[in-house]
Amino acid sequence: MSIEPTRINEELALYIREHAGGRDEALRLVEDETAAMGDIQIMQTAPEQAAFLEMLVKLGPGRRAIEVGTFTGYGAIRIARGLAEEGTLLCCELDPERAEVARRNVDRAGVGKKVEIRVGPAIETIRSLPEEPTFDFAYVDADKIGYPDYYEALLPRMNQGGLITFDNVFMAGLILDPDPNEHLAAMQGLNDLLVDDQRVDSVMLGMADGLTLARVR
Ligand SMILES: C[S@@+](CC[C@H](N)C(=O)[O-])C[C@H]1O[C@@H](n2cnc3c(N)ncnc32)[C@H](O)[C@@H]1O
Repeated sequence: MSIEPTRINEELALYIREHAGGRDEALRLVEDETAAMGDIQIMQTAPEQAAFLEMLVKLGPGRRAIEVGTFTGYGAIRIARGLAEEGTLLCCELDPERAEVARRNVDRAGVGKKVEIRVGPAIETIRSLPEEPTFDFAYVDADKIGYPDYYEALLPRMNQGGLITFDNVFMAGLILDPDPNEHLAAMQGLNDLLVDDQRVDSVMLGMADGLTLARVR
């Protein structure tokens, strides 16, 4: 069996992006405003991946979701749009200014009522939540060194069948580095753990900078 997938070059990547459904004016405005922030725009969830997250949320019960790392609210808008009518999204963001920008953006996109944004270290926010099955969907997209802790803190708070998604599992391609720094080592550790972790079924997708889905058993 060949392991050679179709190579996604720049043109094909753009084609995929241009064919992501649901990129309406509100989302394009966030894209443009985030792009104007300069280099840190790279942190925004890729449009095609955000569309995929919305789809995943729609495929589930869409009752309660959590996002770890919110930045300008791009992914949050799409997750919130995937929720059921009464569904809610809890966003965890360390930086108060980014939280403010995200608040404005989710409000402008018409999903503000569904979204709560808590400012502070996400691990503290998660650990302050009742340890009982609560969430149907989680999107982990904050400091990479924290991923293993986010995973362990989220697991007991997920419903059976709930989905935890992890962004940037390729670490911009560095994930194969045999001599990792501690950030990279944390991600390599999580990636390796998830393959055989009996608590979840998982799959790693070659989307954007790598996205892993872990469904809680
Ligand atoms: C990659 S960006 C998130 C992108 C966002 N999910 C989106 O859809 O565009 C990472 C965000 O995590 C935040 N962050 C970093 N460390 C954090 C922590 N310990 N707790 C909460 N948020 C954190 C950063 O301030 C940044 O806004």
